[in-house]
Amino acid sequence: MATTYRIAVIPGDGTGPEVTAEAVKVLRHAAGLGGFGVDLTEFDFGGDRYLRTGEVLPATAADELRGFDAILLGAIGHPGVAPGILEKGILLSLRFALDQYINLRPVRLYPGVECPLKDKGPADIDYVVVRENTGDVYSGCGGNMMKGTPHEVATQEMVYTRFQVDRCLRYAFEYARKYGKLARGVGPANTLGLVGKTNVLTFVFDLWERAFHELGEAEYPDIKRDYYHVDATCMWMVKSPEWFDVLVTANMFGDIITDLGAITQGGMGIAAGGNINPGGVSMFEPIGGSAPKYTGQGVINPLAAICAAAMMLQTLGEDAIATRIENAVREVTASKLQSLAAGRMGYSTSQVGDLVAERV
Ligand code: IPM
Ligand code: MN
Repeated sequence: MATTYRIAVIPGDGTGPEVTAEAVKVLRHAAGLGGFGVDLTEFDFGGDRYLRTGEVLPATAADELRGFDAILLGAIGHPGVAPGILEKGILLSLRFALDQYINLRPVRLYPGVECPLKDKGPADIDYVVVRENTGDVYSGCGGNMMKGTPHEVATQEMVYTRFQVDRCLRYAFEYARKYGKLARGVGPANTLGLVGKTNVLTFVFDLWERAFHELGEAEYPDIKRDYYHVDATCMWMVKSPEWFDVLVTANMFGDIITDLGAITQGGMGIAAGGNINPGGVSMFEPIGGSAPKYTGQGVINPLAAICAAAMMLQTLGEDAIATRIENAVREVTASKLQSLAAGRMGYSTSQVGDLVAERV
């Protein structure tokens, strides 16, 4: 019998529902071609629901979502809700509750996309960041004292356990073995680069560095190992992105460098990410946010959401159809879109979805 994937869909806020509709369109079309089924269930989590009910996320949400094969998320962030409430209450809550300990963020320049880096093309900007997604300053460890006085103290601690570091590194090594530049036939080696700050953060990144080399030596001798300080990484991401293959880093550095990565690949219209629990339920999203000012106009770029759906299929094991979606996106950027920017694509949101679906 053909597999049917149970997918939870959270369209969310702002332009989230518009881009999600196009991702779903492509997903349904791909399922037909790939010979599998998709059974979609929609959840209304987001700003409107919060304003209506006063509840950010129902207590049962995580348990309910655990019953799905994957989650497709549009965007979270509402102009009528103070910053932080929905991001923490929905996005971060789900990442933690479902233990999605990997945030996988490809940095890939598609043909025809305008790149802000001088003399760089698709062959140069083609790497992936594996961002640890549960620890670091995101742990919530810290607090304040004497708030509002001149002596106020605030701390927010960078916390990592060996367990968190090891499981993230293991995922990154496996990923490099399967999808590194050698495996994909576009480079001489599969390389994993650790991004850290061993010269200053001598406790946390000493742990990362030791674990990296111990695991690499013992179990992944076929994977080439590099190390970069995070500040230098930002420089090389602009100057020589072709050096990179798979990068692995801690949560906060990963958050920061993937926004830089996104702009080098043409911006938020195209950047997708996956919050992955390799043994559980993963959640895929365009990383750009809800872009509320474009809501309802049909001008937002849905390609990031479509790429998120492709990543979801790859993670579910449907590699062949995921590659076909990616290639369809490539064709559309190369030969159709005038720009990736909202309102300047030369097509509406829904037309872009059609252009991709037709080419899968
Ligand atoms: C991201 C976002 C989130 C993060 C915010 C919205 C909590 O910036 O997914 O990169 O910091 O992880
Ligand atoms: Mn971010």
